[in-house]
Amino acid sequence: MRPRIHPSILSADFVNLEHEVGRIGNADAVHVDVMDNHFVPNLTFGQPMVERLLEVTALPLDVHLMIDDPDRWAPGFASAGAASVTFHVEGSADPIRLARAIRAKGAFVGLALKPGTPVEPWLASIAEFDMFLVMTVEPGFGGQSFMSETMPKLRSLADAVEAAGSDLLLQVDGGITTATIGIAAASGANTFVAGSAVFGSDDPNAAIEALRVAAAP
Ligand code: DX5
Ligand code: ZN
Repeated sequence: MRPRIHPSILSADFVNLEHEVGRIGNADAVHVDVMDNHFVPNLTFGQPMVERLLEVTALPLDVHLMIDDPDRWAPGFASAGAASVTFHVEGSADPIRLARAIRAKGAFVGLALKPGTPVEPWLASIAEFDMFLVMTVEPGFGGQSFMSETMPKLRSLADAVEAAGSDLLLQVDGGITTATIGIAAASGANTFVAGSAVFGSDDPNAAIEALRVAAAP
């Protein structure tokens, strides 16, 4: 599979978002970080922003919910038109039930794991999800350093996905640059979120292409 690059608008200019998404035509999706100042110590935006972004970009929206009680809020993002809705297992009362509710609204569903959260309890349930997100930083902020200690978890997930013959997407998020993306790709990731590496560049589309090249084996 060609490496998928999902720029995170967390590193974009929030007062010029229409312009900013217009600068990433090479991307495979726009990664939208929703933070509630409770699940993580930072606050961004919510469902109205997703609705408005859908009006100004043809790219799919990959919504990453870093919020308490996703069981209550996540299906609304799917109804709003997000292509995928990813929620954190640490915040959900019933991840399988929530995954089914998101799919029932017509979106793909992702399960996100913080760096310290083990994946083993979910390996038998990969068919319930379309994507797993292995966080490669503690969620909350852009511009942090890639945590390579998360790679064994990614590898065990990739092995389980391959054994199941599944086409599940394996996403990494945090500290992805041309220097680190190859490490994550070698451990089985095929979908890469990059905030500062894309929006910190003078030429975001060139930065996206450089990440794709660096991800290739
Ligand atoms: C962090 C967010 C990331 C963030 C990544 O909690 O989930 O999506 O934007 O930013 P970089 O690529 O700068 O590490
Ligand atoms: Zn994210």
